[in-house]
Amino acid sequence: MRIYIKTYGCQMNERDSERVAESLRRCGHVLAENERDAEVFIVNSCSVRGKAEDKAIGKLRILIRDARRRGGRAIFGVMGCMVQRMRAEIFDLVKGLDFAVGTHRLHAVPLALEAVMAGRGPILDAAVEIGAPEDVDTHEKGKVSAFLNILLGCDRRCAYCIVPEVRGREWSRSAQFVLAEARHVAANGATEVTLLGQSVMSYGRANPVWPPGFRSPMGFSEPFPALLEAVSGVPGLRRIRFTSGHPSGCTRELCRAMSEIRPLCPHLHLPLQSGSDAILARMNRGYTAAEYRDAVARLRAAVPGIALTTDIIVGFPGETEAQFLETRSLMDEIRFDNAFIFKYSPRPGTPAAAFPDDVPEQEKLRRNHCLLEDQDRWCLDINEKLIGQTLPVLVEGRSKSNRGRWAGRTDSNKTVVFEPASATRPGDYIRAVIERVMPQTLYGRVAGNQEERLVASGI
Ligand code: 5AD
Ligand code: SF4
Repeated sequence: MRIYIKTYGCQMNERDSERVAESLRRCGHVLAENERDAEVFIVNSCSVRGKAEDKAIGKLRILIRDARRRGGRAIFGVMGCMVQRMRAEIFDLVKGLDFAVGTHRLHAVPLALEAVMAGRGPILDAAVEIGAPEDVDTHEKGKVSAFLNILLGCDRRCAYCIVPEVRGREWSRSAQFVLAEARHVAANGATEVTLLGQSVMSYGRANPVWPPGFRSPMGFSEPFPALLEAVSGVPGLRRIRFTSGHPSGCTRELCRAMSEIRPLCPHLHLPLQSGSDAILARMNRGYTAAEYRDAVARLRAAVPGIALTTDIIVGFPGETEAQFLETRSLMDEIRFDNAFIFKYSPRPGTPAAAFPDDVPEQEKLRRNHCLLEDQDRWCLDINEKLIGQTLPVLVEGRSKSNRGRWAGRTDSNKTVVFEPASATRPGDYIRAVIERVMPQTLYGRVAGNQEERLVASGI
């Protein structure tokens, strides 16, 4: 069958889609380049906000309607977080759906498809399993940059968050499998890896990940810095990233790892959510604004110039104007390299869903715009200081907005768009001279001559 997978949500979901695509390919199916060529449509869904769910439902309904109009036979599936949250209810919302597979059962997507093809649909498979099949080779071939799951689920109980419900209890993969997977993707050509976990610094907290008696050569006693050290020893890896962080994980050891382990990129995504202690407490975030500030100070002392990005929620239940302004002023003080600003969206079954959603939609929108405008100015301030600098860039491919230009990312995770030189290929490391900047993008040209570029890319 020709299969098209549409992915919503976070990097974890992107990785899940890649795994499912590989497992389907192994069963003899092929992936369609675009929707029009597909016989099977699968939507990998996200439940983090109501809008993400509406988008996935809307997409499925349109796909099903269009297929009916064309009159051919097509199969429709949904997988991931929404299935885990809604279970059978998703079949009422989307008429004509053939299968729905939850977050814990993604390895069973080929089986669900087979059952539907054999006329045994519709299929719902949303059982809860702890752990995951330890496959290390379900990565797309030839990728420059790979995602590695290291921590599944989440044991934090942030009041607004659906993740513990849809992704289950925290469970850390054993270091041995993470390393085997890192070696596998590096052998396949990736030079950058991103270690993924909802609260990634909790790696090794809920279950042991190292063999008894293991000692980190750098002397780390915490499992996560020790993992970073071990991954940095995998031949071929030049950049290591991880996401998402939490201030409580920004320990002295983590800061030492960030400063001493060379392939670790000088960037951290550290969600703040709010700058008000009262709101942080009601969100059950487990830190105060002062503790967050301290974590930032430790990171900046260890890695001067480290790029910090964050997530903010505006309009959490009971958020007053004064509390919103506390967030605004803490953001002004810290000056993030980028911030994702979300309007609070009540999620059924979360603790915050019991609080009245009392900030009016118009007011949420105003607060959202206010922070977005601030952040654009702050981004521009930071980026303008980069004009004239030469930065190492990992080339990813053609720019999405202008196919004549190419795009890649700096080690600080900023996107650089540049005119390609004749031999530019995805996977090259080039040096880009930054010539002009926008809040989200740097524009430049390739520095030096051909020979220098090849040396930079390690060929
Ligand atoms: N409403 C709005 N934003 C949310 N996030 C998580 N849950 C909600 C919610 N109920 C945001 C947080 C998180 C990011 C991935 O999504 O900022 O860090
Ligand atoms: Fe969305 Fe969270 Fe699921 Fe990722 S883990 S897809 S952000 S609900």
